[in-house]
Amino acid sequence: MYAEKVLSGMRPTGRLHLGHFHGVLANWIKLQHEYPCLFFVADWHALTTAYDEPGNITDNTRDMVIDWLAAGVDPSQAIIFIQSKVPEHAELHLLLSMMTPLGWLERVPTYKDQQEKLTHKDLSTYGFLGYPLLQAADILIYRADKVPVGEDQVPHIEFTREIARRFNHLYGKESGFEDKARESVKKLGSKRAKLYAEFRTRFQEKGEEAALEQAHELLNDAQNLSLGDRERLFGYLEGGGKMILVEPDALLTHASRMPGLDGQKMSKSYGNTIALREDADTITKKIRTMQTDPQRVRRTDPGDPDKCPVWQFHQIYSNDEVKNWVRAGCISAGIGCIECKQPVIDGVLKEQEPMRERARVYEEDPQLVKNIIADGCEKARKLAQETMRDVREAMGLDYS
Ligand code: TRP
Ligand code: SF4
Repeated sequence: MYAEKVLSGMRPTGRLHLGHFHGVLANWIKLQHEYPCLFFVADWHALTTAYDEPGNITDNTRDMVIDWLAAGVDPSQAIIFIQSKVPEHAELHLLLSMMTPLGWLERVPTYKDQQEKLTHKDLSTYGFLGYPLLQAADILIYRADKVPVGEDQVPHIEFTREIARRFNHLYGKESGFEDKARESVKKLGSKRAKLYAEFRTRFQEKGEEAALEQAHELLNDAQNLSLGDRERLFGYLEGGGKMILVEPDALLTHASRMPGLDGQKMSKSYGNTIALREDADTITKKIRTMQTDPQRVRRTDPGDPDKCPVWQFHQIYSNDEVKNWVRAGCISAGIGCIECKQPVIDGVLKEQEPMRERARVYEEDPQLVKNIIADGCEKARKLAQETMRDVREAMGLDYS
């Protein structure tokens, strides 16, 4: 139940591009083989800023999920779902809002930053202020301990940790906790109980994180514990109450090395992107006409690869041999720019071929995508419901 678990979400922006692929998606695809993973479309989050233009959300969601699948996110490995199809997120968001100090939300840096950036929009809304809390609910509801995100999202993960800590502090208390915890330890069986006690001492007295991790593993392996014992034993390792919600860590996604066609960061708003599963002719044309070293006006002018965005593409798509050929040919005017671009064109097309292939199946049969999403939503919902049962009970809302 507290086993390692990865969760991440993306707002439905529609078609993704190579920047997303080389940054976020490549990471997801790697992680799906290493941990249980949940990846979701944060459609409610889209509404926090696009509340006045909701028209594209469903189309954007479909296009984005097809891109995930095309890129290699594998529905037999990872759970793919849509936030609004798991309404438990909203319930947890509401319940957490009861104990969330306004100041904590106002202090999250993205709050003011985004308001200043998106000046054309009134973002002094209740929903926008609550954005990080909704994100906290997304994470905590699956007790996910690993959240792959970019640098800009790190404050949101830190905020989520604070919310989990506050929740456990407020609702994880029970009278006679120490005595009950000692009883729960016994239920581990003598061998495990001894190890548990050892790990706990090592963590509490010497701050050994490794011991804490070993203890978590031990508890994960102890399958026959009741939920109450489990929460108590997790909590007893670190403090004086049950651990109902799990504090997550950010898994920092390294910024994509993928530059845009003009050498700036690849971004839709700069109009310098190559989309995933773009058709071959368009890709070829985009790269053929992309910017080169501005000093190299004529074919006979020598160039400088360090001033050329094409060179940055070679860093991603070419081996050393090709790169040496580019460098030597560029500074000596031995090769022309069109010639130089060909290996990049080939590289991008080759990378996209399996993506186009995978996407074709889903484009031709939209029902397939719907089924994958429905299946993912069902699985996610089961997990979310388990957590909500504990949360309601902890907050005094158990009517069973
Ligand atoms: N806020 C994230 C972004 O803009 C998207 C998101 C919503 C998210 N909920 C999440 C990411 C939960 C990770 C975990 O990129
Ligand atoms: Fe850029 Fe290649 Fe032309 Fe040199 S030869 S300017 S690296 S495109």
